[in-house]
Amino acid sequence: MNSTKKPNIKVLYNEETLATEIERLAKEIAVDLPENVMVVSILKGSFIFAADLLRAIHRAGGVPDVEFITLSSYGHRQTSSGKVEIMRDITTDVKGREILLVDDILESGRTMAFAKDLMYARGAKSVKTCVLLDKPHNRAIDIVPDHKAFECEDLFVIGYGMDLAHGYRQLPYIGVVVSDDEED
Ligand code: IMP
Ligand code: MG
Repeated sequence: MNSTKKPNIKVLYNEETLATEIERLAKEIAVDLPENVMVVSILKGSFIFAADLLRAIHRAGGVPDVEFITLSSYGHRQTSSGKVEIMRDITTDVKGREILLVDDILESGRTMAFAKDLMYARGAKSVKTCVLLDKPHNRAIDIVPDHKAFECEDLFVIGYGMDLAHGYRQLPYIGVVVSDDEED
């Protein structure tokens, strides 16, 4: 990718597809959603997904509390160590609470497994997981999401909250960067 040139982005999931699937997902989640559930959005990547999902959960009759945790996984693509760190923590006690963790992507599984272990270590009563994209090809930890919107190929995706070198989070759709000769 040439830094002076705008990259070509191929749309993978457009706005309408995302909206339809998130509505379906929220109805699925609402079926056995605990009354006093706390949704914990894992930042930064899930901020747009979580915002849309929460409103869809509301339409489906849910009344969740909402919290945010910023996690950072170092060496995600460079090494296999994949250490996850808390950059910003939640501010609510989760002891005895029923938690729904929301993240953008489940890939190696390290981020979600870390968050799940953390909630249980702090005394959560139950922890369920929900992801926008399940990318199962590079899984390092045996974890299956309780709820997911899409299963995705092993592609690096951007937009709808997800970044490439801190950019493109604002895109209202999910896309992949393609080189010129890949364009159709
Ligand atoms: P895991 O810990 O390997 O499961 O990684 C999950 C995290 O890696 C996600 O929350 C994203 O922040 C990031 N990630 C993984 N794949 C992609 C991608 O294709 N685009 C943008 N971020 C990604
Ligand atoms: Mg993330």
